Amino acid sequence: MKALYLLLFPPLIAAINGTNNTDCSCGYRDGANLWTDSLIVYFNETDSLQDSGFEAQVYKHHYENGWNNLFRQGADLAHLTFIPNESLALNLSVATPDHLVMGAAIQTLRHDIHYGSFRSYLKAPLAWTGGSALTMELLYNQTETFSLNLNSVENATESRITMLVNREFPDSIYGVNYTTLVDRDQVNPWDFTEYRLDWSHNEMLFFLGNESHRNISRKHLPSLPSVPGPIHFKHWSTGNYYSMQGPPWQETTANIGWIRFFFNTTSMSTEQRQQFDARCNSSSSSSSSSSSSSSVCSVDDTSLRGFTAYSHNATVRWHQHHAPYSARFASISLIAICSTLSAGLMLYSFLQRSRQNIQSSSSTERFVPSPSMEPPFPPDSALATPGPDSGTVTPYGDHVIMSGQVTPLAKGHMVSLDGHVITDSSNVTLVNNPNPSHGITDASLATLVNNPNPSHVSLLVTGIHFCLTFANAAINPGAYIHYNSEVWARKTIVPFTLNQNWIGPFLMTSSRFLAASYLKNGSLAAMAEKTVGRTPRMLIPVIAIALLEYFLMDAGATKWLEYLASISWSTWPFTVEYTNFGTFIAEIIELMYLIPNAAPQITFNYCTGVLWTIPVQLQGSWTVLLAVLVVAEIKTPWKRFGYYAVAIVTNWYGLNWGSYFWLGLLLTDLDLTYNYRPWLRARPWLYYPVVVLSLVMAIGGLGIDFTPQWTNVLYETYEYGIHPDWQTGRPIAQTSGAGYPQYYIPRLNGLVFSFGLQTLVELSPAVQKLFSFKFFVYVFPHIFTIYLIHGFVFWSFGSALCITFASLGLPYWANISLVALCCYSTIIVSLPFLTPVVETLGKKVTADIWRMAHEVPTMRKPTLYPWTKTLILDRGSA
Ligand SMILES: *[C@@H]1O[C@H](CO)[C@@H](O)[C@H](O)[C@H]1NC(C)=O
Ligand SMILES: *[C@@H]1O[C@H](CO)[C@@H](O)[C@H](O)[C@H]1NC(C)=O
Ligand SMILES: *[C@@H]1O[C@H](CO)[C@@H](O)[C@H](O)[C@H]1NC(C)=O
Ligand SMILES: *[C@@H]1O[C@H](CO)[C@@H](O)[C@H](O)[C@H]1NC(C)=O
Ligand SMILES: *[C@@H]1O[C@H](CO)[C@@H](O)[C@H](O)[C@H]1NC(C)=O
Ligand SMILES: *[C@@H]1O[C@H](CO)[C@@H](O)[C@H](O)[C@H]1NC(C)=O
Ligand SMILES: *[C@@H]1O[C@H](CO)[C@@H](O)[C@H](O)[C@H]1NC(C)=O
Ligand SMILES: *[C@@H]1O[C@H](CO)[C@@H](O)[C@H](O)[C@H]1NC(C)=O
Ligand SMILES: *[C@@H]1O[C@H](CO)[C@@H](O)[C@H](O)[C@H]1NC(C)=O
Ligand SMILES: *[C@@H]1O[C@H](CO)[C@@H](O)[C@H](O)[C@H]1NC(C)=O
Repeated sequence: MKALYLLLFPPLIAAINGTNNTDCSCGYRDGANLWTDSLIVYFNETDSLQDSGFEAQVYKHHYENGWNNLFRQGADLAHLTFIPNESLALNLSVATPDHLVMGAAIQTLRHDIHYGSFRSYLKAPLAWTGGSALTMELLYNQTETFSLNLNSVENATESRITMLVNREFPDSIYGVNYTTLVDRDQVNPWDFTEYRLDWSHNEMLFFLGNESHRNISRKHLPSLPSVPGPIHFKHWSTGNYYSMQGPPWQETTANIGWIRFFFNTTSMSTEQRQQFDARCNSSSSSSSSSSSSSSVCSVDDTSLRGFTAYSHNATVRWHQHHAPYSARFASISLIAICSTLSAGLMLYSFLQRSRQNIQSSSSTERFVPSPSMEPPFPPDSALATPGPDSGTVTPYGDHVIMSGQVTPLAKGHMVSLDGHVITDSSNVTLVNNPNPSHGITDASLATLVNNPNPSHVSLLVTGIHFCLTFANAAINPGAYIHYNSEVWARKTIVPFTLNQNWIGPFLMTSSRFLAASYLKNGSLAAMAEKTVGRTPRMLIPVIAIALLEYFLMDAGATKWLEYLASISWSTWPFTVEYTNFGTFIAEIIELMYLIPNAAPQITFNYCTGVLWTIPVQLQGSWTVLLAVLVVAEIKTPWKRFGYYAVAIVTNWYGLNWGSYFWLGLLLTDLDLTYNYRPWLRARPWLYYPVVVLSLVMAIGGLGIDFTPQWTNVLYETYEYGIHPDWQTGRPIAQTSGAGYPQYYIPRLNGLVFSFGLQTLVELSPAVQKLFSFKFFVYVFPHIFTIYLIHGFVFWSFGSALCITFASLGLPYWANISLVALCCYSTIIVSLPFLTPVVETLGKKVTADIWRMAHEVPTMRKPTLYPWTKTLILDRGSA
């Protein structure tokens, strides 16, 4: 690129000599400030960049930094035009099919600009062309930068200027819209207007027209940029919904009339600086008005032209002096020792465990795959279905954008995430504690509860998250597509496989193991154990993995995720670090107490946000544990089922996940109390219609999600509309909350599907067989771990790989195939290490808590028992 530039603009070196025609050897006075150097160019007086101090830039980015950047930037010379006697025009083209938006950029040759007053005369990009920005920016790196952006957005009346430091989120508080400027300040960004940035060590001021619009002091922002860099102007668009939007749908133009920079530099050595101050300070401080003695110019002198001479060194990127690496030797060796110890311990526990496995595999328990837990379930793809207004700009529509909410962590974007649930495992008692009279039932129950069929589904969860991250269009209508096959997948198999309603069967299954022992033998002790153990059993593994993710993210593991959107064209992935450890603790505690329907804050700090279903599970558990007590006391069947009906309908109407748990309880009750399965089997004329009906419900429940894929009808919006609004009591359709429901809100078709599927699994041997592949038996013990870590693997390792492959120029289909292969291999390899640690922790601690809670402690014995302390105290007197 540089070579190309040199070819086109050969006199680069000559330019270094400067072209001034006024003697300003004592610098430029700017109020109280004095600047040593200047760079001035009037584009109405020149028709080339030669001898201007600027160079045209030529580049094509492979990827972009930013959660919402769906297009990549490019710049070349063809997009730069001089409009005679007026300005430099920077054009921006429509996007290419692979999301490259070619525009234009010019940059100062100097990289040593260090504080100054930067003024320019700019004209915003054309209105009503889809969205683009004209930017003036000093850029050293992502955390040492500031910019002024003229964002002409899609709806031109909403265009606004943003003034940002260190790549802040372009929030409205950092900006002002063109309308306000025109009406209030008589400044019209649509035409040429003067903009000014004053940057000094202690503060940064942004002027639009002559009004100061943003004023930042180092006191309020200690990270105010403080290192030198080049300044560039560019006309660009990355399709970022929150800033310039776009990309443009037709060729668009922005203009630069002139540029006047007055600044200090890092190239000036200390001696030069002292000489300068000695030579100039007397005249500049006392007699700046006496023009005769002074060679100080004023920054307001519009006759100034050209730029200060500078050496080649000034054009080289500035480098921070780093402390020698050996200084960190001590800490590195300490970490190495600790890691070795930890690895050794882990290996030891792993070996111990595999030895136990070998021993136990010969026992009769072999066919009960680790009874320690129920599987997790699939996420919502609430995101997965279109909002009513899903256009091309925001693939999800407004319903997932919690805009305006300014949280400390809202660095990137504010799209909410989904996740899903786990259930736990206290059904151990069912297996290990068989009541002799129910021996056979228990055995079959254990097989059912531990049926690997859910593990099958947990792999679907990871599939959903993979697609949302790397091939969003396969799930979301309105997302940008890489290949037409994504659209076809969405319209054919996706509603059946990658559908959030797979969450339902898991909620139902958890009812079964919470209530089963009580329904069978009325044991309140088992209920107490479940009540006590439920929270720690679910949360300890969550805390362990969340802590691990916290550590790894802090170490920069998800760095590349922020670049992924420009390649995957999906804004769904988003995560940021916790602001501090206290936030982490607060968010963990929130998981235990949050009452659905709501998404816990931790979904923003945890990869793929799967944890939103933890509160659903926990609160649902309390419902079930209480409900089973009540239900068991209603002895008359029709009254009991009448009660179920009322509970299910009211829960559904009240938009409560409780309806799932009630249905699960109903099925458990039917099975354990009324033994409906043998009863039905004995009556084929009823059995087959019931099986067919269940099949229809299961298929229909998912199948209805085809409608948004083929038509514009959003079934979920209608269903959501008839429920009561919590604030007003009116139907939601008649309130401002109307629209497509959030992912964490239960839906009727999910309920129907779950009920159908669950019945089918219980009744049909064919379906049971279908799910009992041997593969799933192996996967089963690791389901919880898979559920907790897959998102992290996709978003750290996966995103880094995807970026690497994209930079190598691999076609996207090959790219994500390789990414999928590598990610799933990584997950599989990590399982044998993580599962034992996490599971042992969760199971042991929960068991200890329960033991401490209900066992009468053994009597405390004195240390010297069976002797008394006189044995020692009186030893001398003996
Ligand atoms: C800069 O100017 C000096 C003196 O006029 C001249 O000798 C030198 O060749 C010039 N440098 C370049 C690179 O043209
Ligand atoms: C170029 O524009 C500036 C300010 O807009 C003006 O002062 C100057 O006279 C113009 N130059 C010419 C040659 O018209
Ligand atoms: C630009 O200005 C020059 C000098 O003022 C004049 O000769 C020329 O015709 C102008 N060009 C245009 C296109 O107006
Ligand atoms: C940017 O550069 C500064 C100064 O060298 C450095 O302290 C900072 O860590 C850099 N930021 C990034 C994101 O590299
Ligand atoms: C543009 O935005 C304005 C103000 O928000 C609104 O009144 C107008 O209807 C919008 N126009 C279009 C075409 O969306
Ligand atoms: C412009 O900003 C003002 C003040 O922030 C706001 O009241 C107004 O609605 C905005 N106008 C548009 C068109 O967005
Ligand atoms: C720049 O864009 C304008 C439309 O905004 C167009 O008329 C002009 O031809 C373009 N210039 C180049 C060099 O493409
Ligand atoms: C710029 O550098 C000159 C020379 O060292 C100095 O006198 C002046 O105070 C500096 N200006 C600012 C604003 O720091
Ligand atoms: C202008 O040029 C003269 C001689 O070439 C030089 O001494 C002086 O420092 C320059 N002034 C500025 C402000 O660049
Ligand atoms: C340029 O930098 C090199 C090495 O940093 C230094 O030796 C040389 O003196 C510098 N030249 C000037 C003109 O500052």
